[in-house]
Amino acid sequence: MATIQEKIDDLKKRQEKVKLGGGQKRVDKQHASGKLTARERVEKLLDPGTFVELDQFVTHRCTNFGMETIESPGEGVVTGYGTVDGRLVYVFAQDFTVIGGSLGEMHANKIVKVQKLALKMGAPLIGINDSGGARIQEAVDALSGYGKIFYQNTMASGVIPQISVIMGPCAGGAVYSPALTDFIYMVKNTSQMFITGPQVIKSVTAEEVTAEQLGGAMTHNSTSGVAHFATENDDDCMQQVRYLLSFLPSNNLDEAPVVNKGDDPNRMDEGLNTLLPDNPNQPYNMKDVIKSVVDNGEYYEVHAHYAQNIITCFARFDGQPVGIIANQPNNMAGCLDINASDKSARFIRFCDAFNLPLVNLVDVPGFLPGTDQEYGGIIRHGAKMLYAYSEATVPKITVITRKAYGGSYLAMCSQDLGADQVLAWPSAEIAVMGPAGAANIIFRGDADAEAKTAKYVEDFATPYKAAERGFVDQVIEPKETRPRIITALNMLATKREQRPAKKHGSIPL
Ligand code: HXC
Repeated sequence: MATIQEKIDDLKKRQEKVKLGGGQKRVDKQHASGKLTARERVEKLLDPGTFVELDQFVTHRCTNFGMETIESPGEGVVTGYGTVDGRLVYVFAQDFTVIGGSLGEMHANKIVKVQKLALKMGAPLIGINDSGGARIQEAVDALSGYGKIFYQNTMASGVIPQISVIMGPCAGGAVYSPALTDFIYMVKNTSQMFITGPQVIKSVTAEEVTAEQLGGAMTHNSTSGVAHFATENDDDCMQQVRYLLSFLPSNNLDEAPVVNKGDDPNRMDEGLNTLLPDNPNQPYNMKDVIKSVVDNGEYYEVHAHYAQNIITCFARFDGQPVGIIANQPNNMAGCLDINASDKSARFIRFCDAFNLPLVNLVDVPGFLPGTDQEYGGIIRHGAKMLYAYSEATVPKITVITRKAYGGSYLAMCSQDLGADQVLAWPSAEIAVMGPAGAANIIFRGDADAEAKTAKYVEDFATPYKAAERGFVDQVIEPKETRPRIITALNMLATKREQRPAKKHGSIPL
């Protein structure tokens, strides 16, 4: 009979074996391709020494195609919990060195277990994907595993932040777990996502495309908008996930952590008074406004490479995290289009679900005209913005720096869509449309069209018509923007707003 010491030694041996994953040769291959192993990634993500591994000894029970002779240490996925900046998070990291990180029944069960724990405990879940997809030998059991994961992703949506990190292949239906989560990180050159790979595409459509062109980090960050963040390497990626978490609450009933780095809430910036060009048709960089008003000029952009005509980012005001949505006059004059609408609607809904106030910086000349946009359904997509702002019950503060025309004025969270405070700079132009367009319609053919257009500009290209009706709460000097936003946020801290009871709304998709 084995002694207790022998049993302890046996445990250690078993643990060591699991930690080696698919063996040194495969670990070396992983490193040679510029990737960290699953365990190394988890170590980089979590506070040092906090990782507690679960289900170390789970293994597959498949007997198809000789699988009974194939070992799967850790079952191709490392799961457990730990802390990030001292706060509980759950994590799973697929281990490509073990049967290519492929997902079978028991692999899926390990993931589902941490998904359920994260939901029950109200803690964020970070999923690190590096996998050949459904474990082919496990057939429908593998598909069922994915189905269970998708279901849990959906149950947890809006309750806990779910972050997906793609650090290798993620192909076929496997892409839909990340797609159901809140944010997708990709690593440049080493991660790919696609529904059907280059070979299938070639055989079906004769189209030739590399895996990187098809589904690499920059493709999904700048072209498809599937991914939200493009990172340089595994290490950079894990650091960025930690940074993102610093802006988020652990769950929908929690408040985001206040981190005050000592920026004076009353700080004014004379530079803002001269930032805007006198000619309203000249662009400027809205990021200069953001940097000027937020704490320490620090903000974290989401979807930085996608639909750059609108900026979505996290930042803090006097330590309080918020979500910022800002038109970018430097890109397509800040027009709203299909992609900008999708990008911002998704971001607004995330912030609302997780108690992050919305700060909207508005300089928008309208929705982008054209058949591309109309045929693509700008009506349906633009409606998402209106819907998202209207349903959001978090504090909403809108600052109009310059143009706010027509439907896009409403879409950028006007008072009627529920803005709790609307501030306008003296340069604001709140009107049904721009002066040139208006003159074209109502003064067309008039002998004194020029004089009438000048009068239109004087009367309507200002914040004062809107202020006369109370649609603007305060007209402020640009330099005062930071203290005015902070005062408004403090005033709105106790905001409570009820919505009619319903199962759920039907957002136009
Ligand atoms: C079983 C798999 C596997 C899989 C990889 N492996 N993918 N085993 N099922 N899906 C194994 C390989 O046999 C190999 O085992 C090891 O993992 C490493 O794979 P390699 O091919 O050597 O690695 P590499 O050259 O880097 O190529 C990686 C790869 C390739 C591009 C991901 O493995 C690949 O194409 N795999 C199949 C991808 C796929 O078609 N999956 C199904 C997608 S459909 P050894 O023992 O040699 O180390 C799907 C449906 C999901 O996922 C539906 C959800 C609803």
